[in-house]
Amino acid sequence: MRPVSTVILGTGSYAPSRVLTNADLAKQVDTSEEWIVSRTGIRERRMAAADESTSDMAAKAGAKALEDAGLAAADIDLLIVATVTPDLVMPACACIVQRKLAIPHHAACFDLNAACSGFIYALDTACAMISSGRYKHALVIGAEKFSAILDWKDRSTCILFGDGAGATVIGGSETPNIGLLATKLGAYGESVDLLYIPAGGSDQPATPASIAAGDHCVKMKGKEVFKFAVRAMEEAARDILEQEGLTADHIDCVIPHQANLRIIEAISQYLKLPMDRFFINLDRYGNTSAASVPIALDEARRAGRIKRGDLTLMVAFGAGLTYGSALIRW
Ligand code: COA
Repeated sequence: MRPVSTVILGTGSYAPSRVLTNADLAKQVDTSEEWIVSRTGIRERRMAAADESTSDMAAKAGAKALEDAGLAAADIDLLIVATVTPDLVMPACACIVQRKLAIPHHAACFDLNAACSGFIYALDTACAMISSGRYKHALVIGAEKFSAILDWKDRSTCILFGDGAGATVIGGSETPNIGLLATKLGAYGESVDLLYIPAGGSDQPATPASIAAGDHCVKMKGKEVFKFAVRAMEEAARDILEQEGLTADHIDCVIPHQANLRIIEAISQYLKLPMDRFFINLDRYGNTSAASVPIALDEARRAGRIKRGDLTLMVAFGAGLTYGSALIRW
């Protein structure tokens, strides 16, 4: 039977215990606490241990979301992991998480790559699959070990990112007008080379030369990405509100992608939505890519920032360049 609505039944998140501060980074590259805080708002980020994988973090966040939802792994028939840092190129990180959580064999398990917009893409995908009536409970996880793909000598990127995982459990409901009300997803594929990893894929398999050149690490044109982020997140937020006949005043809490405080401040200004309605934790985690929105969502819920009846807007952008927004009524 097709449910009337699709709702978030539980959330969970996990961050590795090792903290890397701006002062620590200033010992490794030519940067400073002042530069990083004034340009990004980031004060520290978490680093996975050498033997801690994306799937380890994903499984920990997933277990917490299941507990929060009051469900068992046996109840899950759909598992999506949004990530650009899967443990292996093949098979999917989702299959490794399935094994770690003992999710049943009849569950569909796959990864989704939309970079930092990945969680919103995965949420939309899971909700559509549950709306079809063919799946009952989805575990949707955003997880990244971004530290594994950074060039630790490149000060323009290595200061921005961190590791972690966030998860949600999604199910159907017979109550109308709750849960995921709308989404807006899109991409500007013509701008692929503003944020990408040149080598290590099938186009340029890793060679000693590509590794020596650092081409298996993230390359970014920061200024261009910044401009895209502000424009795309503002449009994605504005469009979804218009689509639902709502205005910024109706939003109780915004969960933005936690890339840069200045990007969030610009969106706040353009949308005329005060900063106190944005949930921000980038000062503690930096940009955790696909994990950023679900970690922030979990922390916002647990901090009491989201209550029954509230309207939450999630909005993100990422490599691709992708963007996405989602409106949730709790
Ligand atoms: N410490 C000190 N100086 C640094 C630095 C660092 N960590 N990184 C770059 N700089 C230098 C640059 O070399 C440049 O020096 P120059 O003027 O001598 O050439 C100067 O600081 C200004 O760099 P610029 O790139 O113009 O800074 P900016 O104000 O655009 O801030 C970013 C840089 C990366 C913080 C900003 O562009 C940004 O956040 N972009 C979006 C990135 C993002 O969110 N990516 C993830 C997408 S999901």
